[in-house]
Amino acid sequence: MENKVKNAGTARLEVAGRTVDLPVYSGTHGPNVIDIRKLYAETDHFTLDPGFTSTGSCESQITFIDGDEGILLHRGYPIEQLAEKSNYLELCYLLLNGELPSKTQFDTFSNEVRNHTLLHTQQDKFFEGFRRDSHPMAMLTGAVGGMAAFYPGAMGNEDPEERRISSIRLISKMPTIAARCMKYNLGQRFVDPQNKLSYSENFLNMCFSVTAEDYEINPILARAMDRFFMLHADHEQNASTSTVRLVASSGAHPFAAIAAGVASLWGPSHGGANEAALRQLREIGSLDKVPEFVKMAKDKSSGIRLMGFGHRVYKNYDPRAKVMQKTCYEVLDALDLHDHPLLKVAMELERIALQDEYFIEKKLYPNVDFYSGIILEAMGFPTKMFTVLFAVARTVGWIAQLSEMLEDPTQKIGRPRQIYTGAAMRDYAPITHR
Ligand code: CMC
Repeated sequence: MENKVKNAGTARLEVAGRTVDLPVYSGTHGPNVIDIRKLYAETDHFTLDPGFTSTGSCESQITFIDGDEGILLHRGYPIEQLAEKSNYLELCYLLLNGELPSKTQFDTFSNEVRNHTLLHTQQDKFFEGFRRDSHPMAMLTGAVGGMAAFYPGAMGNEDPEERRISSIRLISKMPTIAARCMKYNLGQRFVDPQNKLSYSENFLNMCFSVTAEDYEINPILARAMDRFFMLHADHEQNASTSTVRLVASSGAHPFAAIAAGVASLWGPSHGGANEAALRQLREIGSLDKVPEFVKMAKDKSSGIRLMGFGHRVYKNYDPRAKVMQKTCYEVLDALDLHDHPLLKVAMELERIALQDEYFIEKKLYPNVDFYSGIILEAMGFPTKMFTVLFAVARTVGWIAQLSEMLEDPTQKIGRPRQIYTGAAMRDYAPITHR
């Protein structure tokens, strides 16, 4: 990757009687950054920023978010335009290669993705080692990490062609692995991929078809699935992406790094929010309980948060949530589900929270996970599968970010520092003297 930051002056810092001038850089969009790489060498001080609320970890040319304006761009293209006019595989190509493909490039790429969908038969045996009721995210983490055993050559981080093939393999095989996680939980036979189907159709077929009956793929649901994948494809340096970068920065196998990303995504503050939001809707149960629940979510002592609301970066409406909301209504129309009790609770929660002073003042809007949970529930996915679907979609983002990091000449192993507040240095006392 060619580094493209521009000089934008200096910032002067005075600390412990020393003055240091730190370079300031500007990017294409977004706030300028202060380069503190020399801070420790020149001042003998570190910075402290738990949660990285003011810290950039890398230069990136993939995704841009303006949380105040509610803007999300992939390689410069607004997510709303991509969601309306493009499709998931085209977005994968864009994220990985930087430009939209020509017709020939797109056909070659999608044929390659379609031709790597099968899993090694030994990999199918992994699943038998899990309890039937295992959480599918536990199975997914194990199965993705285990892929490193099948493709040891992919370790060659320096070889761009090896990395390209690994990317294709991961994008192709993630839906197959994810669908197997669902089938294993259900106690049904695995359904093999059908390469004549589109990416989303193939996934729905592997999840919902059974050998005993014909399964007809509803085009509205296939489009909704594709949108879901697009809206979750990348989101710059979030927890799971930063995890992937950090793991791979040591030179670890890329599939192991992606497995670490899956593990990070699982948490309810991140990708696990779609599952947590749906569980919360079930807990609320009926329309009359909504006001009481909203009251509890505003009271810190209750320990309850409204899942699917709020975002670390978006302090305006999440642009993905707008598209997801529209898709949500399309799916409910297509399935004639507007009277589904759980979905009615969701709509009431959205209505009340959007009018409530607490949520308005703290800029807590429904996020992408709020609507995606409703869509996935309506489509018939078990709640435990929601975060797995997010992981399938985010795989391309993780790969694009990992590749970018490996091609960045300024890349180093990630190694944050700390402020130590433990015991001061002291001498060891033998056990008889304690
Ligand atoms: N319900 C009630 N109050 C909330 C909520 C919520 N969902 N989210 C934040 N707050 C309050 C919080 O109590 C705090 O109040 P105060 O200023 O009085 O202390 C204030 O809003 C700011 O919260 P914060 O925790 O400092 O904000 P953050 O940026 O660290 O957290 C968040 C962002 C997404 C973790 C948080 O909003 C949250 O826990 N939301 C619910 C979980 C969720 O939906 N997560 C999905 C995120 S989107 C998918 C993804 O990108 O992975």
